[in-house]
Amino acid sequence: MLISWKKELEIGNELIDSQHRMLVMLLRKLDMAVKNKMEHKVIMGILLEIKLFTEFHFLSEENLMAELGYPNLREHEKIHSELLSQANVYIAKINRKQAFPDDVLATLHSWFANHVVNEDLKLATYVRSSTMRPIGEEFYGLYLK
Ligand SMILES: [Fe+2]
Ligand SMILES: [Fe+2]
Repeated sequence: MLISWKKELEIGNELIDSQHRMLVMLLRKLDMAVKNKMEHKVIMGILLEIKLFTEFHFLSEENLMAELGYPNLREHEKIHSELLSQANVYIAKINRKQAFPDDVLATLHSWFANHVVNEDLKLATYVRSSTMRPIGEEFYGLYLK
């Protein structure tokens, strides 16, 4: 499986898009580690990076939703917490060597792409059309590429 950033994943919000690119980069890093048959400890370390960055990213999106009074906040939050708990189950299985990192990687990657083009795209569209602006949006250009 080739994990790479694709134009379709771009949803038009610089903050979210930059974090999504980071997540794709981490998934690709995991892919390389698996292909290079890195030791279990290294794979677990990268999975922890993915887990912590995903928690951070979900919180960023949830803060953005709260700032702009996003009407589907509860629903989107619920999806995030379900994704995280499912991911935790998979990570625990890999830790016990009851699942293959390659299979889990494919699952994480497809969850990610589906969530971005469905839920996150709706959020970005709402942010664009809202008269309220995200806190710090004027600084995006300075810090985000
Ligand atoms: Fe999301
Ligand atoms: Fe997202």
